Amino acid sequence: MRLHLFCLLILGCFTQTFVQAQFLKPIFIPDTLEGPMFNLNMAPSSASILPGKPTPTLSYNGQPILGPTLILKKGMDVDAMITNNISDSTTLHWHGIHLPAHADGGPHMPIFPGLSNHAHFTCLDPAGTNWYHPHFHGKTGEQTLKGAAGMIIVRDDAQPQPAIPGKYGVDDFPLIIQSLEFDTAHRILPKGQQDSIVLVNGIWKPYCKVPAQMVRFRVLNASNARNFVLGFPDNRSFSLIGTDNGLLGSPFSLTRVKLAPGERVELVVDFSGMNGQSLEMKSFGSEIPAGTQGGPTIVMPVGSPPNYSPLDGIDFSIIEFRVQTALPGGITTLPDTLAEQTRYPLSQSTNERTIVFSSVVPGSAAGPFLLNDSTFNMERIDFSIPVGTTEIWTLSNQTVVAHPFHMHGFPFYIIDRYGAPVGPEERGRKDMVMVSPNETLRIITWFSDFGDTEMPYMFHCHILTHEDEGMMGQFIVLPEPTGNLSLQTSPASAMPNPFTDFIQIRDFGDKENLRIVNGLGLEMKVEISANGRINTSDWPAGIYVCRMADSQTKLLKF
Ligand code: C2O
Ligand code: CU
Ligand code: CU
Repeated sequence: MRLHLFCLLILGCFTQTFVQAQFLKPIFIPDTLEGPMFNLNMAPSSASILPGKPTPTLSYNGQPILGPTLILKKGMDVDAMITNNISDSTTLHWHGIHLPAHADGGPHMPIFPGLSNHAHFTCLDPAGTNWYHPHFHGKTGEQTLKGAAGMIIVRDDAQPQPAIPGKYGVDDFPLIIQSLEFDTAHRILPKGQQDSIVLVNGIWKPYCKVPAQMVRFRVLNASNARNFVLGFPDNRSFSLIGTDNGLLGSPFSLTRVKLAPGERVELVVDFSGMNGQSLEMKSFGSEIPAGTQGGPTIVMPVGSPPNYSPLDGIDFSIIEFRVQTALPGGITTLPDTLAEQTRYPLSQSTNERTIVFSSVVPGSAAGPFLLNDSTFNMERIDFSIPVGTTEIWTLSNQTVVAHPFHMHGFPFYIIDRYGAPVGPEERGRKDMVMVSPNETLRIITWFSDFGDTEMPYMFHCHILTHEDEGMMGQFIVLPEPTGNLSLQTSPASAMPNPFTDFIQIRDFGDKENLRIVNGLGLEMKVEISANGRINTSDWPAGIYVCRMADSQTKLLKF
């Protein structure tokens, strides 16, 4: 350590040499897989991240760390086979993709060790940057931070393409940023909050060769909790062209861009005329407020303080761009219009909900945290939302720390923060929104399709430790007709609704109209308990017809 400090002091006199020497390894660019068939094989792997010993990792398809970049095309019928070759259960979640709940890879779809699952869906998303990671409840953080994550790029060939950089690995680079804590054996500590090593695509302090022209970066924060405020030491401006799952209406020029865990931004940096020069990208942690992870240590009013990282509240380098000769045909200016924006008008909303973030120990920054006073329960559906409904959700953070909120399956738009409309950088299609301590904001979502009485979608805090500790809920999108009754059988699984011990009735406003008849046409005696359950443990095996309200009929199999 002391030797290291000494070198640093001497090299300090030759700043250029030191800066050059700091970024030793070239960036790793994950291979791409083009659909519509994808095979993803999750297995233990090993990566040389820190000097000396290798780090045991998890990865997909034999990469040292992370997984291949999946290229989806709008309209493509995706058939993905996911194989689990680790000793724990896992899932593969398509973060940011609008797809049916049965294909979403949430905690209800475990892939047991040695087995495979399929996900089938049609890609309906606009061009954008999404990602995949495991979502097995309680293991999401561990598996994702050990390296099981990858990028998904959606392309839309049917639309006229805006003239923006788009050649993968040439003028369009994926940058997956993860800040991690390692032990002395160079193993990743998934719950580590002393995260002092920042990796880009699994490489510590990488450099990336870029052509002397406009270059696009798709940046994903796949860290546990750390926020980044990205920018350059000379405070030059660059363009934000996309957020989470889509392009912005037009490029937005800025000098800093915030990136919460789970969020993506697409940036364009102009390296024109910089041939032979280099430029560091930094995170300006000194600009992050206390209470937002990555900002300065906060004094804890209550509870035991988490361990803080040496990176908290300071500025640090992430990657160095080394500018090379421009390529023929490179992009030199950005168009004014990138994509059509289809923000949902507020008048489209027919229902409002409030989601309150709180902590189990009031005032604690350490968690566990709750959504609407509840911890996650796989057996409890928090909301049943009729398909086709548009809703406004008010997110109210009543804790002393920030929480990046995420919704599965359906993109949303941020309406306002503390009642003030959000700026252009937050007006795009989103699936993540950072909610600061004591902040209240609103989002609007259209639950446009994919009704399914059985399979829920998740909403949760994307700080992986918070999520794994239960800061998550689930909703069902009810299929048509949009009556006020829905029904779930035990166990919740495939049609035609096999059940054993009970039937669970949800949203029962009209339970008097519920009738169940057996295969002989005889009506069963139906008693709904206070929690909405009908005890069926003494019913004989067979098929039952369940009629809800007047129009809804459902087949049940005992
Ligand atoms: Cu990326 Cu449910 O999460
Ligand atoms: Cu997700
Ligand atoms: Cu949280």
